Amino acid sequence: MPHVITQSCCSDASCTFACPVNCIHPTPDEPGFATAEMLYVDPTSCVDCGACVTACPVEAIGPAHRLPEEHRVYIEINRVLSAADPANAELTNPDPGSRSRPPMAHAVPPKRLRVADGDEVSVGIVGSGPAAMYAADELLRYGNVTVDVYEKLSVPYGLARFGVAPDHTRTRKVAELFDVVSKDPRFRLHLNTAVGTDVTVEQLRERHDAVLVAAGASADRKMGIPGEDLPGVGSATDFVAWYNGRPDHSGDEFDLSHKRVVIVGNGNVALDAARILTASRDELVGKDMSQSALARLRESEVEEVVIVARRGPEYSAFTLPEILGLTEERTVTVEPDPEVAESLAAGSDSPLTSHKLTLLESLPTTPQSAGPGPAVRLRYLTTPVAIDADGDGLVLRARHTTTGEDIEIPTGLVLTSVGYKGRPVPGLPFDEQRGVLPNKSGRVVGDDGAPLPGVYVTGWIKRGPNGFIGTNKTDSQETVAAIAADVALGIVRSRPAPAHRGGRLARLLRG
Ligand SMILES: Cc1cc2nc3c(=O)[nH]c(=O)nc-3n(C[C@H](O)[C@H](O)[C@H](O)COP(=O)(O)OP(=O)(O)OC[C@H]3O[C@@H](n4cnc5c(N)ncnc54)[C@H](O)[C@@H]3O)c2cc1C
Ligand SMILES: NC(=O)c1ccc[n+]([C@@H]2O[C@H](COP(=O)([O-])OP(=O)(O)OC[C@H]3O[C@@H](n4cnc5c(N)ncnc54)[C@H](OP(=O)(O)O)[C@@H]3O)[C@@H](O)[C@H]2O)c1
Repeated sequence: MPHVITQSCCSDASCTFACPVNCIHPTPDEPGFATAEMLYVDPTSCVDCGACVTACPVEAIGPAHRLPEEHRVYIEINRVLSAADPANAELTNPDPGSRSRPPMAHAVPPKRLRVADGDEVSVGIVGSGPAAMYAADELLRYGNVTVDVYEKLSVPYGLARFGVAPDHTRTRKVAELFDVVSKDPRFRLHLNTAVGTDVTVEQLRERHDAVLVAAGASADRKMGIPGEDLPGVGSATDFVAWYNGRPDHSGDEFDLSHKRVVIVGNGNVALDAARILTASRDELVGKDMSQSALARLRESEVEEVVIVARRGPEYSAFTLPEILGLTEERTVTVEPDPEVAESLAAGSDSPLTSHKLTLLESLPTTPQSAGPGPAVRLRYLTTPVAIDADGDGLVLRARHTTTGEDIEIPTGLVLTSVGYKGRPVPGLPFDEQRGVLPNKSGRVVGDDGAPLPGVYVTGWIKRGPNGFIGTNKTDSQETVAAIAADVALGIVRSRPAPAHRGGRLARLLRG
């Protein structure tokens, strides 16, 4: 029986390197890796060794015969994804030895950077999210590198701790991987240290041979419609930070006294927020989350969460594993609309989108047919145009995206979930349009397009707010490769080891 990849897949891709027969795809060097919604195990070449299970940081892989009932659908999904991949040409041949793909040649980085004997390269990293921790892990493979991580919050690991939903307990386990990195004697973590406020980029550049910015994308995008600033309108960014107990969001308030909440945008963040808003009274008890948020959620009067998307179902931004998870755990209905029905019936050439459409088509359209407990309603082709105050509530005014017909959705709370945006880091160039530090393969570049010597970037602040936790691993590997190349070229200097210990910056931070 082959192994199977399931819902919590985070594209870390350690499994692809652990697999002795190269049966897990797409690998980071294959086309499609960056946009894949999940990886899959090719069932015809899997030799059932279980090496991938040990390598996966989020317990996403299991043997097919031991999958719990709710995950058995992934046997078919892995099979379908494998069959749709043109590289698996001999799919029908059960002999693993005759597969078209050879086992992967594992690239092991050299153990030391090329610097003078006794020298070390000191790297200062801004932020401690997944991108920072994967970069630290990659850097520390070199025996002559030290890493100092500067994190503005009092708790490390960024969205892996304050973004990932508390009921996604297996995904949260990625923190255990980061704990292992943090224990390296050449790794130092400086919490409560905001770069740009407590310490400047210039000070970090003096102190370290290279500075790597991994500050994420913590601002929320705006829709740019009237009423977005009304009381009762919030962002999923803040809502997520609130229920996850992010220290700077403990005082946030969300009005859960009305029957309906509207979420604009249908990405995975919207699905997380909808799942938390519709959790049964006791479902979140014992989860690692804000206890005051839990108390408020248990008193919630919300009966329905409407997820509003401006485009049709074929463009749903949520991933298949997340919508599957939601429909297993909640009552989910689709707002009836002839054009939506047509799109659902039309299907798609992409196996994942096709699976999504089939799933959505199977959902009821009438709220009456919904079961007990708060429900989630998916509404497509609905473009928000304004939010108005209405008595003690709100009305989301929208237009049907294709017919132009007016739509009104009364609600008590509107959460915008239309994506995240990076913030500038004082002292460094910033691309306002994309919300990222301008860069070439991780080297931060100035207005003239030339790299700033010794300044690098990774993660959401490098490529924008997309991808899973593990996507940051390949991203950070690219940036660390640029640092290693610049060390070899003498662009990044090294210093005798003791120069990096203690010193002025430590005193400054203590101050
Ligand atoms: C709500 C939500 C849920 C998600 N759930 C999942 C999931 O279940 N599975 C999955 O695979 N992916 C999930 N993702 C995606 C995943 O979290 C991201 O891909 C990943 O966290 C991005 O990593 P990052 O390090 O670039 O940014 P972040 O995780 O945001 O880390 C950036 C860090 O930098 C710190 N920082 C920022 N500015 C400064 C400064 N000036 N000085 C010092 N420190 C600073 C921040 O405090 C933060 O700790 C989720 C994303 C969101 C938004
Ligand atoms: N469990 C997980 O693995 C998990 C959980 C959470 C987040 N993540 C990842 O984190 C990343 C960010 O997720 P996200 O949900 O914040 O973003 P996202 O996937 O980019 O979704 C953004 C949504 O907002 C909509 N939108 C954007 N601008 C809008 C506007 N002006 N008006 C109305 N709608 C608008 C988009 O619609 P259009 O498509 O029409 O633009 C889309 O539906 C994603 O890569 C996601 O997969 C993963």
